[in-house]
Amino acid sequence: MQLQIKPLPPLRLLVPTDIDKVMAIETVAHSHPWKRTSMEDSLAGHHRCVGWLEDDRLLGFYIASTGGGDAELLDIAVDPKLRKRGVGACLMEDLVAWAEKRADSLFLEVRVSNARAIRLYERFDFMEVGERPNYYPTAKGKENALIMARHLR
Ligand SMILES: CC(C)(COP(=O)(O)OP(=O)(O)OC[C@H]1O[C@@H](n2cnc3c(N)ncnc32)[C@H](O)[C@@H]1OP(=O)(O)O)[C@@H](O)C(=O)NCCC(=O)NCCS
Repeated sequence: MQLQIKPLPPLRLLVPTDIDKVMAIETVAHSHPWKRTSMEDSLAGHHRCVGWLEDDRLLGFYIASTGGGDAELLDIAVDPKLRKRGVGACLMEDLVAWAEKRADSLFLEVRVSNARAIRLYERFDFMEVGERPNYYPTAKGKENALIMARHLR
């Protein structure tokens, strides 16, 4: 049988000059997107920022941090036109592989209403470990955040 090698996903670290591409997705992906200045800080090296790029087009990205033995997923978003193709799962695989080398646990927070994202996280063995009442702003008021975590070692 002929050896078949799957191509590696086109992931790379994002840099400050990627800011426009990142904000273009961020602003359509979230009802309350990050401010550009916060994103600039992350891209300047404060956090791990990884994107899936094809021919210089950004399909999706994630932002994560580590500290005190834990890692945290701070943001993940995929271009709405390019969802349901496995880009989110591929970004999560990269996140877990990176975090496994640096932390014992990986945490994240997600709106209780964000069923799509929660399904993705459950596929990556995240479990609900807590809830923050009235954490996220909504069009009508506030909604709770689920705190999810998974062990890495
Ligand atoms: C959450 C998010 C990142 C997922 O990205 P994505 O690229 O669509 O994720 P995937 O493609 O890996 O998986 C999504 C679904 O597509 C399905 N899928 C993946 N590849 C597929 C394919 N080739 N054909 C058909 N379906 C496919 C997955 O099984 C999954 O189905 P499910 O939702 O029923 O479980 C994306 O929806 C997003 O950007 N949302 C807005 C931002 C957001 O909410 N971020 C989280 C903040 S906490």
